[in-house]
Amino acid sequence: MTALTDTLARPLRDLRISVTDRCNFRCTYCMPKEVFGHDFVFLRREQLLTFEEIERLARLFLAAGVTKIRLTGGEPLLRRDLESLVSMLSALQPQGLTDLTLTTNGSLLPAKAGALRDAGLDRVTVSLDSLDDDVFQSMNDVRFPVARVLEGIEAAQQAGLSVKVNMVVKRNVNDGSVMDMAERFRGTGIILRFIEFMDVGTTNGWRLDDVVPAQELVDRLSARWPLESVAPRYPGEVANRLRYADGAGEIGVIASVTRPFCGDCTRARLSAEGELYTCLFAAHGRDLRGPLREGATDQQLAALLGRIWGNRGDRYSELRSAETRDRPRVEMSHIGG
Ligand code: GTP
Ligand code: 5AD
Ligand code: SF4
Ligand code: SF4
Repeated sequence: MTALTDTLARPLRDLRISVTDRCNFRCTYCMPKEVFGHDFVFLRREQLLTFEEIERLARLFLAAGVTKIRLTGGEPLLRRDLESLVSMLSALQPQGLTDLTLTTNGSLLPAKAGALRDAGLDRVTVSLDSLDDDVFQSMNDVRFPVARVLEGIEAAQQAGLSVKVNMVVKRNVNDGSVMDMAERFRGTGIILRFIEFMDVGTTNGWRLDDVVPAQELVDRLSARWPLESVAPRYPGEVANRLRYADGAGEIGVIASVTRPFCGDCTRARLSAEGELYTCLFAAHGRDLRGPLREGATDQQLAALLGRIWGNRGDRYSELRSAETRDRPRVEMSHIGG
């Protein structure tokens, strides 16, 4: 099959695969406890795509132009035996896969980093919102200590995985931790990225006042450590890259609210139950599991994929307005961010 493009001429390059909708954290901006409490109904095992089903779909996405796969959740390391899936996917390099990574809260990395690396994972992105335990624990809302995430990061590095760290910044919650985080990761080879708090889903109580514009962060950081901008690594890279002028490495800012990047968004998201989302802010996905389990051929599935991507016109972040704000939207933990 030839490479697909959507109605805005955007190719399909990245596939983000959620392997579970569960998480052992309850970050207030993602899975607030009031919504994701004891009575919340998560997906049942038989609703989840099996590893074989994921691998089959991944092959079809690679044939359609995808080169990069990121595993997400919820928390992907909660999925039993994830390293088997990693090894099935990492075998797809001849099919065009050049980058296999995952996004994790880091809590299970001490136990899993080595096996993931052995299975062929290239790198990891670990979420960490503060080095201050009071701040971090009030954000993860399960009293998970900073030290254990740092252990996870260390385990990943020890295993030979390269590491990025994602910090979601909320005004008056953790913006006071920005300088500490920068200082901690300067000179370590780890790329720290600051993410503007986004209005994903409908349960995190998002307000524009809570967003710290990326430019404000760059101004604050560069007043202490002069920064230079760096060209994107690939077209459509989500983070704007910067480097410390003194040679202490690179950081990134992800300004999806103040500087949306829909124009070259090449990302598709597959939920754990096999729905394909063409935007992080979509209300619904398109079911691929049904056809898969009803015996569709590769050709039929590829044609379905072609129709879905070919009709894609999403650009939510560029349109973000009072009107779009009130539309239903999928939750972040369901499609993995
Ligand atoms: P690299 O592959 O390392 O360049 O990572 P990435 O920046 O593509 O992926 P990552 O999952 O680390 O993305 C960081 C954060 O950026 C996500 O958790 C989201 O909060 C946000 N983000 C990623 N993709 C999109 C997108 O398509 N739209 C919007 N609005 N935000 C996105
Ligand atoms: N805004 C910005 N980033 C978010 N993430 C989760 N919810 C939000 C939000 N509302 C980030 C996490 C993690 C990735 C999966 O998405 O911190 O790095
Ligand atoms: Fe879990 Fe990540 Fe969401 Fe936090 S942001 S609740 S760690 S999925
Ligand atoms: Fe892509 Fe939708 Fe994010 Fe825009 S809002 S960058 S279209 S996922």
